[in-house]
Amino acid sequence: MTTQPTDAETLRGRALTALLAARDRTALLTDSVEGPDLVAQHSPLMSPLVWDLAHIGNQEELWLLRAVAGREAMRPEIDSLYDAFEHPRSARPTLPLLPPEEARRYAAEVRGRALDVLGDATFHTEEGPGAGFGTGLTDAGFAFGMVAQHEQQHDETMLITHQLRKGPAVLSGAGFGPVVDPVRQSEVLVPGGPFTMGTSTEPWALDNERPAHRRFVEPYFIDTTPVTNAAYLRFIEDGGYEERRWWSAEGWKLVRGQRLAAPLFWHEEGGQWLRRRFGTVQPVDPREPVTHVSWYEADAYARWAGRRLPTEAEWEKAARHDPHSGRSRRFPWGDEEPADRHANLGQRHLGPAPAGSYPDGASPLGVRQLMGDVWEWTSSDFLPYPGFVAFPYREYSEVFFGNDHKVLRGGSFAVGEVACRGTFRNWDYPVRRQIFSGFRTARDAHVRDGSVHDASARDGFHGEGA
Ligand code: AVJ
Ligand code: FE
Repeated sequence: MTTQPTDAETLRGRALTALLAARDRTALLTDSVEGPDLVAQHSPLMSPLVWDLAHIGNQEELWLLRAVAGREAMRPEIDSLYDAFEHPRSARPTLPLLPPEEARRYAAEVRGRALDVLGDATFHTEEGPGAGFGTGLTDAGFAFGMVAQHEQQHDETMLITHQLRKGPAVLSGAGFGPVVDPVRQSEVLVPGGPFTMGTSTEPWALDNERPAHRRFVEPYFIDTTPVTNAAYLRFIEDGGYEERRWWSAEGWKLVRGQRLAAPLFWHEEGGQWLRRRFGTVQPVDPREPVTHVSWYEADAYARWAGRRLPTEAEWEKAARHDPHSGRSRRFPWGDEEPADRHANLGQRHLGPAPAGSYPDGASPLGVRQLMGDVWEWTSSDFLPYPGFVAFPYREYSEVFFGNDHKVLRGGSFAVGEVACRGTFRNWDYPVRRQIFSGFRTARDAHVRDGSVHDASARDGFHGEGA
């Protein structure tokens, strides 16, 4: 069993910290641009920033003020405007949305009341027999954790909107210090066998991460770091985007149809690859994890490299399995909450750290940067675990299950600390590239007579090269 603090005061404190941190970020993301930029739609894939702002407040009102505390609706007439299922993103700019000042005031008013509710709420922290957490809204303060995660997720969504926005830079992030520890990219063998996937005890795990269940995986090799720009450039320079054989049928349609030739936000100028990030154009950094690639590009790269994407179970086993105890842990480094030295999270830095950073966040087998930096595409469709129960609403996960979406794991530099853990599951359409998506690769290990026969991959290894 994993160990995590379950006492009410620790959890209440954590909820408060997470809610305040998320709101600081929300304020920065919405105060850093002028009114017209808040109401404008910067991409049909995204909502106007002012929609996210009031939607954050509205969800907080729905779950903390109405569902937990039983209060009356503050502004019942706005609920439908901020219901993500009533209006697709592309239609949101035409809605009679609250103007920026009103949206700010509404979110702040909800927050003031929510903090009172948080202070007074009883956190049910007894684990009932078989029930575990996540069966009641106030079990272990679940609703507060869920609302904090929701705001952190929208902070990432809003940062994506900033990335898609044209115009000069308005945001800045900190530089990387001693966490950078360039190691040569390599791979490790993860032994085959069963492990515990998902969780029944993590207090704020969302419904799709539940319940814990045993999964068997065959032995496999997995990259110790995300795939770098340098490695990805070799794929490009080798004509990867022009060769049908590396691509799935759907992927090839996408590449041809949209004439893809490089990750989103890259362009070539005078024989050099440049990329635009939050309004600044810079040369592509060969050490950074490749970012803004679709699932199809990740899949094609992996095939070119003589490898494949890891399954979701393989990714989670690499991130959580402790080969010494046989236990699944909360994070690659153990059960402790993420600290700055473990992972690049929470928009402290406005990009991924060079591949090989964060030695303190490595898994017991030495796999790095599983948390933070870039979301990692897996080969798996977004499906429910055996015994899944939708909670507290079907529209968080259940309506997305099926083979339309691929699972991404691990979190990016843009996601907050409470919306990231070894069991956390994200999903998106395989064509998507505006998200902070990268990947690492894997391959089968062929074990015979108890020893591994190393069927070597293309060019020895797909990493930095000689
Ligand atoms: C889990 C990131 C796919 O943004 O669509 C936000 C999170 N759900 N509000 C999304 C979410 C409801 C969700 N993802
Ligand atoms: Fe939402």
